[in-house]
Amino acid sequence: MKQIWQALKAHQQAVEHRPILDLFADPRRAESFSTRLDDMLFDWSKTNIDHTARDLLIDLAGAAGVSQKRDAMFAGRKINETEGRAVLHTALRNMDRPVLVEGQDVTAGLRETHARMQAFAHDLREGRFTGQGGRITDVVNIGIGGSDLGPAMACLALAPYADGPRCHFVSNVDGAHIHDTLKDLDPATTLVIVASKTFTTIETMTNAETARRWMERRVANPAAQFAAVSTAADRTAAFGIDASRVFGFEDWVGGRYSMWGPIGLSLMIAIGPEDFDAFLSGGAAMDRHFREAPFAENLPVLLALVGIWHNQICGHATRAVLPYDQRLARLPAYLQQLEMESNGKRVAMDGHELALHSGPIVWGEPGTNGQHAFYQLIHQGTRVVPCEFLVARDGHEPDLAHQHLLLVSNCLAQSEALLRGRSLDEARAILAKKGLTGTELERQARHRVFPGNRPSTTLAYPKLTPAMLGRIIALYEHRVFVEGVILGINSYDQWGVELGKELALALQPMLEGRAGTEGKDGSTRQLIDFLGR
Ligand code: F6P
Repeated sequence: MKQIWQALKAHQQAVEHRPILDLFADPRRAESFSTRLDDMLFDWSKTNIDHTARDLLIDLAGAAGVSQKRDAMFAGRKINETEGRAVLHTALRNMDRPVLVEGQDVTAGLRETHARMQAFAHDLREGRFTGQGGRITDVVNIGIGGSDLGPAMACLALAPYADGPRCHFVSNVDGAHIHDTLKDLDPATTLVIVASKTFTTIETMTNAETARRWMERRVANPAAQFAAVSTAADRTAAFGIDASRVFGFEDWVGGRYSMWGPIGLSLMIAIGPEDFDAFLSGGAAMDRHFREAPFAENLPVLLALVGIWHNQICGHATRAVLPYDQRLARLPAYLQQLEMESNGKRVAMDGHELALHSGPIVWGEPGTNGQHAFYQLIHQGTRVVPCEFLVARDGHEPDLAHQHLLLVSNCLAQSEALLRGRSLDEARAILAKKGLTGTELERQARHRVFPGNRPSTTLAYPKLTPAMLGRIIALYEHRVFVEGVILGINSYDQWGVELGKELALALQPMLEGRAGTEGKDGSTRQLIDFLGR
């Protein structure tokens, strides 16, 4: 592998200053550096990856053992070595084929839970399950991280399909979040879902207690309007939630990979079980493709290799996810957890420090909003930010098709501008046409230069349907897996979140004035004095 990394680095240095635009001298450039899966198009031709780089990257994936590790994951081996767990979120969307965990087929249990979720969602949507004040009008999902971001992102993404009760999401321990969410709701017609894999997360349990007190003020039996999603049946029972409204899952489903199962209950209630199944089938289609397509045509593998090229080989520290879809506004936040909690690790599986950088910083906002905010830096800043655009051919509002075309043209304009840029001579000519001359023209022209040669990819698809969203999310999940395998890290643990949690527990009594601040650094002591009671 070391030789392949070295060859990639040497090649990157050799082509670093070659304009990406020159690669389009080959009339087949766009087609050769694009990959299709049915009606989905991943265009990665506006990157500096050429035939040599592509072949080396594919060799890298082969040498890292991506196929073997992929097969081990699907076979239920304990590839999450630091937690001694299998990684089988894919089973949640492939319940019709045997999935073995320690020699046992687990799909019967998955199907049973799925059927209970469907029955509950139907009952609730059709008014058979009611609140103590009548039909359920609102559902509040209380969870954080993987127990929040997936369903919250997907409920917004699939808003055109939402015909059930309104869904709300409370995650932050900041009381403002639950206060502002509950203030306009009627406790007698609200269902609260407490979603927590562990059922110990302090933010979620604190908000769940607050919701219970809110409900108690209006209804006789608050527990009857609570449901729970968790791997910890003992803790959900201790909280007082009846087992008939508890939907369990196993510890081989990681929190940030869990929206396909019971953590997606709020989504299923919002869009209905049939559309939820379409979402699952989209994920399953991507799984099949990931397992069967050769690397040179394999969307998740190629998306990962583009990421490795930009992050580890070219040294770009961040990547921007830029959906030209307002309903994908939460996708960047969702991918932040998926990618950064999975691949933000400084040691390899064997405990040795990584020789290369870990996964990149992921960030973004929907277009066109971002264009009027941070794109300035993307176009003219000194750092290169590889951009990942997502765009649908059609929107969901036929009477606003003209606005959709404007949206699409903006998306294409951005990747074209990043590719081409604008030279000093072009800037001079534009200013000369406007009547500027001499030193003023020269001074102004420099500010109007766009260096261009900035890489981007575009994922294009016909429409953001439930099945398409399923495909997109599974694509990114597998991308994270492939990048993790190439970097040699465990993408499925998250020890990096623990230290802050421990310190917060110790700080609370200090802020309340119940414990001394000995041992704290001067800054923390000062802040405790300032903010404490
Ligand atoms: O603290 C990080 C984390 O464990 C995430 O990995 C997880 O998605 C989130 O907290 C919520 O955890 P839980 O579902 O157990 O409440």
